[in-house]
Amino acid sequence: MKNTYEKGLGSSSGKIILMGEHAVVHGEPSIAIPFPETTVNATVESINGPVELDCYYHQGAFSEAPDMLKNLTTTIQTTLKRLNRPLKNFKLTITSTVPPERGMGSSAAVAVAIVRALYAYFKEHLSREELLDLVGVSEKIAHGNPSGLDAIMTSSTTPVYYVKGQPFEPFSLAIDAYLIVADTGVMGETKKAVGDVMTLLKTNPEQTKPAIHRLGKLAETARTALESNQPKQLGAAMTEAHQLLSSLTVSSDRLNAFVAAALNAGALGAKLTGGGRGGCMIALADQEEIALDIEAALKQVGADHTWIYHMGDDANE
Ligand code: PMV
Repeated sequence: MKNTYEKGLGSSSGKIILMGEHAVVHGEPSIAIPFPETTVNATVESINGPVELDCYYHQGAFSEAPDMLKNLTTTIQTTLKRLNRPLKNFKLTITSTVPPERGMGSSAAVAVAIVRALYAYFKEHLSREELLDLVGVSEKIAHGNPSGLDAIMTSSTTPVYYVKGQPFEPFSLAIDAYLIVADTGVMGETKKAVGDVMTLLKTNPEQTKPAIHRLGKLAETARTALESNQPKQLGAAMTEAHQLLSSLTVSSDRLNAFVAAALNAGALGAKLTGGGRGGCMIALADQEEIALDIEAALKQVGADHTWIYHMGDDANE
């Protein structure tokens, strides 16, 4: 029988942790935003026979997908099971501009786009709970013990304030400022960095505890600045957070050089984002020309990729 389904499309975005990384593991607040400058698009289309995949790491039969795509293949299987549909007669194509292993939530973004595309293809309604539940299965494979933050942020258009164990609190970005994001080109080391901070807490609690607590306070300051359009305060909080994260050993020479270059070029503040030791750096500017200067300076010190994102009122649409 001929398959008559139309194409199913699903998309998602990357995410950025603005403040509170690492401290959030120890009960302090954090702030994350969706990052629509990077996206994942998934397309499901009808073919006859075994399922085919077309993505950066594999083009061909689903059954021959490499082990590193286990979170992706599991997402497909789990979603089909939930939809009560067989694993056959479609091709899934995935394109992504979310760089992998840079703290931008690439694995969650891919899973979100896949689930959305499959539900669209089979013309089934997808609730938010169902989406987060299905993406959670994939994230367990990719990250072991995910906080759920990546799944939320890559499928949403609203920033959140998050304290571990408490519900995510969405809030509005009311700041007229530019976020400049630079990829160091180096894979992050989130797991190791989190473990090293844990060790520091045991071996040097006198300095580590206050630093973590201060990072939490800076996340509060940042939220106020984001909600009341105070770019200077946000910038100052970012730079102080970077220094504290650096004292916790989760920065790197390259990240420090990026931060220095951004500040020299006129940034109001700059810091690493996410797990650290690699991944990305973020900087803040209140004018577009300065944002462009910062971008140029970051390219000069070797940024692999840069993005400029306006965080104003139009940012969440
Ligand atoms: O590198 P990412 O985006 O996965 O962020 C890690 C954030 C940490 O606070 C360092 C760890 C965590 O689980 O919250």
